Amino acid sequence: MSSSAPVIPTPATRFVRACLRQPVDRPPVWFLRQAGRYMREYMEVRRHHSLLEICKRPEIAAEVTITAAEKLDVDAAIIFADLLLPLECMGLDFEFQAGEGPVIHKPLRTAADIDALVTTRASELAYVGEAIQKVVAHFHDRIGIIGFCGAPFTLASYMIEGGGSRNYIETKKIMYRQPDAWSKLLDKLVIVLREFAAQQVAAGADVIQIFDSWAGALAIPDYRDFVLPITRTLVREVQSLGVPVIYFGVDTASLLPAMRETGADVLGLDWRTPLDKAWRELDYSCAVQGNLDPITLFAEPELIRKRVHQILDQAAARPGHIFNLGHGIVPGTPVENVQAVVRFVREYSPAAGEARHG
Ligand code: CP3
Repeated sequence: MSSSAPVIPTPATRFVRACLRQPVDRPPVWFLRQAGRYMREYMEVRRHHSLLEICKRPEIAAEVTITAAEKLDVDAAIIFADLLLPLECMGLDFEFQAGEGPVIHKPLRTAADIDALVTTRASELAYVGEAIQKVVAHFHDRIGIIGFCGAPFTLASYMIEGGGSRNYIETKKIMYRQPDAWSKLLDKLVIVLREFAAQQVAAGADVIQIFDSWAGALAIPDYRDFVLPITRTLVREVQSLGVPVIYFGVDTASLLPAMRETGADVLGLDWRTPLDKAWRELDYSCAVQGNLDPITLFAEPELIRKRVHQILDQAAARPGHIFNLGHGIVPGTPVENVQAVVRFVREYSPAAGEARHG
C-alpha cells in the first residue's frame, strides 16, 4: 500500500469496503462485462446504436449500465465504455468491426508516430463522466460505481499492433529495441489516463479499475523493466484522487507478486490461479477479485453452485475478497446462470465449508 495514499472516509457500500479490506456482512459480487451481448436488453439497444454511439451518448451508456446492474442485482456497476476510447483523443482512429474486434487504422510503428500523439485533448472524453453522473444519481450509495481505464501496456499493445494480437511482436520490438520511444509512449498514455480517471472520480466513481488485460503476455523481467514502473505511477496517481484501484490482468499467475508492487488496492485473479494459493503468495497484502472461469456459467446450476462455494471457501471470509469471474462474460451465456451466481454468493455460509471438503 502506498504510504502517500490519502485517508479514505468509511465507505458506504460493501463493495468499496471490501476493496479496502474492511469487514463486510458478505462478499460483494459483480461481473466483468456484466453489460454485454449475452443480455437481451443490451442487444435490443445495440440494434439501434453502434458500440461507440452507446459509449458516447451518456443517457444510453447510463441506461445500459443501470439495466445490467439491476437485472443481476449485483453490488457494483461498471460504467459502460470501452478501453480504447482514449486512443481517439490521442490522434488514433479506430473502429469495431463485426466479429473482428477493434481495428486501429494507422497503428504506431515509429518513434515519429509516437511523437505525433496528442496528450492535451482528454477533455473530449467528458461523455464518460457524464454517464457516471447519471448512474450515481440513480444508485446513490446503494451499490459501488466503478470507472475504468486501460493500463499503459495493454493500450500500447493495441496502438502498436492495430488490434488484438497473439505474440505482440511489434509491441515487444519497440519495447526492446526503442526503449526511449517506448517510455515516451507510456508516459504520454499516463498523462491522458490520469486525466480520464480524474474526470470519472469527479463524476462520482467510487473505484477505478485499471485493465491490463494482456499483461500476461510478458515475462516477469520484461514486466518489471518495461511496464511496472509506469504502471505504479498511474496507480499512485489514481489513488491520490481518493479512490481505491483494482488492477486486473489475465494469465498473470506468475506475474502477481510483481503486479502487487504497483501498490493497487485490489488485484484481479484469473481462473487459472487458485484463489487461496494466489492470495497466500501475496501475503494477503491486498484485496483480491475473482475468480470463477466465465465458461463455468454454461454448466448446470448445481456445478456452478459448487464452484462458487469452493471459491468462497478459499477466500475463507477474510476481509478483502470481491467475488467475480476470472475474465468477462462471453456472448451466449445464460443470463439466469449469472443471476444464480449472485444467489449462490448470498446464500453462502462459511460454516458449511468443512462439510463440503469433509
Ligand atoms: O459491463 C461491461 O463490462 C461493459 C463495459 C466494457 C466494454 N469494454 C464494452 C464492450 C468494458 C469494461 C470493456 C473493456 C475492454 N474493452 C477491455 C478490457 C476488458 C477485458 O476483456 O479484458 C478490452 C480488451 C476492450 C477492447 C475491446 N472492446 C475488444 C477486444 C472488443 C471486441 C471483443 C468482443 O468481446 O467482441 C470490444 C468490444 C466491446 N466492448 C463489446 C462490449 C460490450 C462487445 C461488442 C459489441 O457490443 O459490439
